[in-house]
Amino acid sequence: MPQTYLAAAIEIAQEAGKTLIEELSRPPDIRYKGDEVDLVTQADRSSEQLIVSRLTHYFPDHAIVAEEGTGRDNASDFRWHVDPLDGTTNFAHGYPCFSVSIGLEHCGDLLAAVVFNPFYNELFAAARGEGATLNGQKISVSSVSSVAASLLCTGFPQRNRKSSKNLYFYGEFTQRSHGVRRDGSAALDLACVAAGRFDGFWEFGLNKWDTAAGVLLVEEAGGKVTDFDGQPYQLGGPVILATNALIHEEMCKLAREISHRAASAAQSKSVS
Ligand code: IPD
Ligand code: CA
Ligand code: CA
Repeated sequence: MPQTYLAAAIEIAQEAGKTLIEELSRPPDIRYKGDEVDLVTQADRSSEQLIVSRLTHYFPDHAIVAEEGTGRDNASDFRWHVDPLDGTTNFAHGYPCFSVSIGLEHCGDLLAAVVFNPFYNELFAAARGEGATLNGQKISVSSVSSVAASLLCTGFPQRNRKSSKNLYFYGEFTQRSHGVRRDGSAALDLACVAAGRFDGFWEFGLNKWDTAAGVLLVEEAGGKVTDFDGQPYQLGGPVILATNALIHEEMCKLAREISHRAASAAQSKSVS
């Protein structure tokens, strides 16, 4: 039995990562979740099965929320948020930007987090109050202090892509920064903010399992996580903004301006 919650999460994420690498060498078994771009593969299912059964073995009383629906809604103050494969589309195309994401919440506070990219063997981990690490070495957010000098990142939900207002934000932030990447794994995007590779990340409509681990990584690496109004980010909230803290206020202000412009553009389109 691992000594700490974090040690358990690390052990389990590494095992799940092995499953993903094994599945990567097989021809992809792709199915669709009701939409021609919302993919699910055998790898998602195998990884989730391993994680849920191992968590259940170690912590039989804890609740587990897992993306593919095999978790357990126990009445417990402890809740594990599990994305067994974050970046399924990348995985299905052999683009090696995907991860296992496991976060532990206790009465609304995040306690432990692991995001693991098994292809590059990069393991990001954090425990509340103990800092964040990459493969055991301490990491911290970047020291870039303006949006103009920042490298940003975002993502787009698989559903309702045509009506995604984020296309607007993507264009506007691209013009105001060194660039905006769309890497396809929200958990890794957040881990990259924690490691100082990206200076900021935002996305609309993410689920708890996408962000639980990444939020703690960013906070423990010295960053800030809120919504676009600067209010504390609630897991599963409509929008997440995670930055190195230094560009946070500027990004919130720009996001509000962009929102207003997007709303007026939509209004004049509906009038004409
Ligand atoms: C997706 C990834 C992607 C994000 C999507 C998520 P999945 O998760 O995190 O980066 O833009 O919104 O749904 O489906 O690969 O686990
Ligand atoms: Ca995900
Ligand atoms: Ca997933």
